[in-house]
Amino acid sequence: TDTIAPGPEAPAPLSPARAKIEQKTLRTDRWWLSPLLTLLVLIAFIFYATFRAFQKADYYADGLISPFYSPCLSTNCLPDSPLGGFTPIGSWWTQSPALLILVFPLGFRMTCYYYRKAYYRAFWQSPPACAVAEPHGKYTGETRFPLILNNTHRYFFYAGLIFNVILTWDGILAFRNADGAWGHMSLGTLVLLANAALLWLYSLSCHSCRHAIGGRLKHFSKHPLRYKGWTLVSKLNHKHMLFAWISLFGVALTDAYVALVANGTFSNPTFF
Ligand code: FES
Repeated sequence: TDTIAPGPEAPAPLSPARAKIEQKTLRTDRWWLSPLLTLLVLIAFIFYATFRAFQKADYYADGLISPFYSPCLSTNCLPDSPLGGFTPIGSWWTQSPALLILVFPLGFRMTCYYYRKAYYRAFWQSPPACAVAEPHGKYTGETRFPLILNNTHRYFFYAGLIFNVILTWDGILAFRNADGAWGHMSLGTLVLLANAALLWLYSLSCHSCRHAIGGRLKHFSKHPLRYKGWTLVSKLNHKHMLFAWISLFGVALTDAYVALVANGTFSNPTFF
């Protein structure tokens, strides 16, 4: 039989290559559950993150800074926040400092290969699941604006690494007490460090990371270090979906923890 390549001229649901069946799908399992859950969780996260990013309050307390607001680069940041003295943006920015930096973590997640699959299925139903026809009559993939921007993922990956370093540093700085002396540890210190660790796992398991480390090599034997790194990253890469989700929850829960401490709802227990 002839093979018809998918592409702009052959929209998937109408493609001559597709079996001529009336039903949208012959699947009898609950294929809709996964995209539905994805939809609900991502919408909840979007609402929460938008509210917090615009709130411009309760993002720093007891040596802990929310990951939504770090690095805090404008002079309207609280002066004693970790980078409070480093304000390259100056005072012209009067809106929430979170809005200055949000494009980087947001861009990293939005262009992530796993999240693309997740939101194409959940929001755009393109397709909703394997072996389920999509409702659209036209398919252009990622060849046009805005989806062509998803090809910038590797650059967001590099930006994400810088953010990981900063958030790790925030966790280390949380080992200082209110006077700036080292040797202090609270539950919040552990929360910040756990959040940074999850973000590292998410970044290191990224497909772009795997390519950056082991891609374009003709002979692994001539690059033993890169081969070793590629092997490790490939193992993490298998769990990328898991890291994508738990790091997303990690960021939201870390922010919520800082907010609760900052508004006095929860006292940050101190170990020493
Ligand atoms: Fe998901 Fe790169 S593929 S972060």
